[in-house]
Amino acid sequence: MNCGFYCVHLPDIMSDKRAIPNHVAIIMDGNGRWAKQRGKERYEGHLMGVEAVRGVVRAAVRNGVSWLTLYAFSTENWGRPQAEVDAIMELFCRTVVSEGKELAEQGVRVRIMGERTRFSKQVLEMIEHIERLTSGGDRLTLVLAFNYSSRREMVLAAQSLAERVANGELKVKDIDEECFASSLMTVAIPDPDLIIRTSGECRLSNFLLWQASYSEFYFPEVLWPDFTEEEFDKAMEEYAHRERRYGLV
Ligand code: FPP
Repeated sequence: MNCGFYCVHLPDIMSDKRAIPNHVAIIMDGNGRWAKQRGKERYEGHLMGVEAVRGVVRAAVRNGVSWLTLYAFSTENWGRPQAEVDAIMELFCRTVVSEGKELAEQGVRVRIMGERTRFSKQVLEMIEHIERLTSGGDRLTLVLAFNYSSRREMVLAAQSLAERVANGELKVKDIDEECFASSLMTVAIPDPDLIIRTSGECRLSNFLLWQASYSEFYFPEVLWPDFTEEEFDKAMEEYAHRERRYGLV
């Protein structure tokens, strides 16, 4: 039966006792280098990057992952050449139009995480459209970090807590880890179990700094456009062998 692009011919997840990460977060790095290696414009790297996103969403559903967060545009990315910023925004809008219906049909709920400032009216409309269209999805939540940076997220959280204290709604002594976490943009999103960064770079670049406290890390050498479903499966395999102790013995 052909049930669509994101459809999953479920593997034997029921009989598979391997540890599966509930939440996988990915820093999609290497689009520019992928394009340069082929004598193409950076934009073409991003275009192929969207293809990789399609594959990874499919693989995440197939593996039984419940949350997938993709770092699509950092707050720092506004500093790239305007033509590249425009191209990424345009690609986002086109992807929403081309993939939205299919994502909704396959039970993928899309959430956009980041400050909704600086976006054009068109991008804001697309954000609202995709979130509305896919709101009923219950197989996978795809969180797109878009105009997101972790330090900014924490500063905003500190501001909002300070405001609540000043208003008398909150006592300083009641600000604990749980309270702080619930003021972050990731409220109601579980911490990532596995963080992947492609292209061989081994750093977090302002991504989920608070939430990554106990995450496992995986840094494959492949550039993002080459991060296929098989590469995702390799990451799952690697995760299954990790021992997580959360500071215990
Ligand atoms: C990093 O590669 C990639 C980005 C900053 C943008 C990622 C965007 C997409 C995959 C397309 C838009 C996304 C969606 C979900 C529609 P880089 O440009 O930093 O590569 P480099 O380090 O090789 O220069």
